[in-house]
Amino acid sequence: MRKKNIIVVGLQWGDEGKGKIVDLLSKNADIIARYQGGNNAGHTVVTGNISLVFRLVPSGILNEDKICILGNGVVIDPVVLFEELEALQKINIKIKGRFYISHKCHIIMPYHKRLDIARERLRGAGMIGTTGRGIGPAYEDKVARIGIRAIDLTKKDVLYEKIILSLKEKNYLFENVLCENIFDPDELINEYFEYGNKLKDYLIDSSEFINKSIDAGKNIMLEGAQGTFLDVDHGTYPYVTSSNTVAGGSLAGVGIGPTKIDEVIGITKAYTTRVGEGYFPTELKEGLGDAIRDKGEEYGSVTGRPRRCGWFDANMIKTAKYLNGITGMVVTKLDVLSGLKKINICTGYLFKGSIINHLPYLSDDFKDITPVYEEAEGWNEEIGTIKQFKDLPVNAQKYLVRLEQITEIPINIFSIGKDRMQTVTLKEIF
Ligand code: GDP
Ligand code: IMO
Ligand code: MG
Repeated sequence: MRKKNIIVVGLQWGDEGKGKIVDLLSKNADIIARYQGGNNAGHTVVTGNISLVFRLVPSGILNEDKICILGNGVVIDPVVLFEELEALQKINIKIKGRFYISHKCHIIMPYHKRLDIARERLRGAGMIGTTGRGIGPAYEDKVARIGIRAIDLTKKDVLYEKIILSLKEKNYLFENVLCENIFDPDELINEYFEYGNKLKDYLIDSSEFINKSIDAGKNIMLEGAQGTFLDVDHGTYPYVTSSNTVAGGSLAGVGIGPTKIDEVIGITKAYTTRVGEGYFPTELKEGLGDAIRDKGEEYGSVTGRPRRCGWFDANMIKTAKYLNGITGMVVTKLDVLSGLKKINICTGYLFKGSIINHLPYLSDDFKDITPVYEEAEGWNEEIGTIKQFKDLPVNAQKYLVRLEQITEIPINIFSIGKDRMQTVTLKEIF
C-alpha cells in the first residue's frame, strides 16, 4: 500500500453509493474528510444487519482508529450533528479523539431552514425540490459575509452581534414578504451558545491538521457529497445544490493545495437517478423506470422521496471526467439491472438535427434534446453473490467493458449489492 491522497466524488446527481464505497476504502485511509454540503447528504452503509445513513459524519467513522473531519466547506446543523453523534455512540462507535470539525464551518440556523422552505413555496411550480434543510440560505449568508461560523458559537458576545445582524434583514423578510413568524434573537443566542459549548471539544484548524498529516505520510480521503451535476457552477443550474461538489471544490473545502492529490475516484450507478426537480435526459417515466426504482429501492435517504430513474448517460460521465479530473471509477448497483432484456446507454443527444456530446448550455434547450442510445444485451441471473469479474454473466461483463470504453475511464471496483461485502475490486485504489 503506497501513501496516497484521494478524492471520492459522485459523477451523477448524487446517491451514487458514495457512502458504501468511502466506508470500503476507509480501511486504507488514515483520515477521511468531508469538504462541502451539509445534512442534505444521506450516505448509506450496510454491513451485516446494520444499516446506517450518515448525514454529516464521514462514513469512514465505522472503521476503528480512523480520523474523520468536517472540513471548512461543510455547513453544519448542530441539531442534526448531535443526533447523529449520539446514535453512533449508542452502537459503540467511538467519537472522542476520532472526530473533528473545522472551526471555520458555517452553521445552519433555524432561520435558514425556514427560508429554504418558504422560498420553495414561493417558487411554486418552478421549485427546485430542495431537501428543505436550509443548505442554500446558509451558503448565501456565508458568501454575503453574514454567516455564523462554528467558532462564533463559542463566544456569547460575538454570537450576539452576528445573530442580531443576520436577523435584521431576515425578520423583515419573514414578516413582510414571506408572511412567516419572526425569530427572537435572545432565544436563538441562548440555544446556539449551548451548542457552542458542546461543539468546542471538536473544533480544530482542520487545514493545518490535514496538511501536517499529509507531511507525516498519512493517507487522506476526501469524501464528496451530492454529485457533479448538482454542482452550483457546473451542474444543471438552477436545479443544483449551493456548493462546489466537484473535486476542485474539495481543495478549498478542506484547505489543501492541488499538488497534494494523487487520484480522483468517481462513483456512478450502472444507470442514473435523480431526486428533486430538473432536467434528466435519459429519464424513464413509467414501466421500466418504476421497475428500476422498485428493484434498486430508489427512495431518497434524506427525504424518502422517490428517485427518478433512467439509463446510464455516458455523455454526462464523460463531462464529469474532465470536470473532476477522474482517474478511475466505481460502478454501483449493477445487480439492479439483472432481469432486463435490453439495456440502453446514452452516447449523445440529438439537438436541432445534429448530435451533441454535452448537456445543452441554455436550460430552455433541454426540452429539445433527444438521447441517442446504444443497446446492450441484458442478463437474467442475479449477481449479488459473485466474487470475481469472470463470475458475471457474459452480458454483464460486456456491459461493464462497454462503459469503460465509452467513458474512457477505467473501472476500479464494481458493486453488486448494498452490503460492504458485495463488492468486486478489479484494481486496488490504495
Ligand atoms: P450516497 O449518497 O452516494 O452515499 O448514496 P445513498 O446511500 O444515498 O444511496 C445509495 C443506495 O444504494 C443506498 O441505499 C445503498 O445501500 C444502496 N447501494 C449501494 N451500492 C449498491 C449496490 O451495488 N447494489 C444495490 N442493490 N444497492 C446498493
Ligand atoms: P448525497 O450526498 C441526491 C438535491 C435535492 C435538490 C437539490 C438542491 O446523498 O448524494 P439542497 O437541499 O441541496 O438545496 O437541494 O439537490 N440533493 C441531492 N440529491 N443526493 C444528495 O446528496 C443530495 N443533496 C441535495 O434533491 O434537487
Ligand atoms: Mg445519498
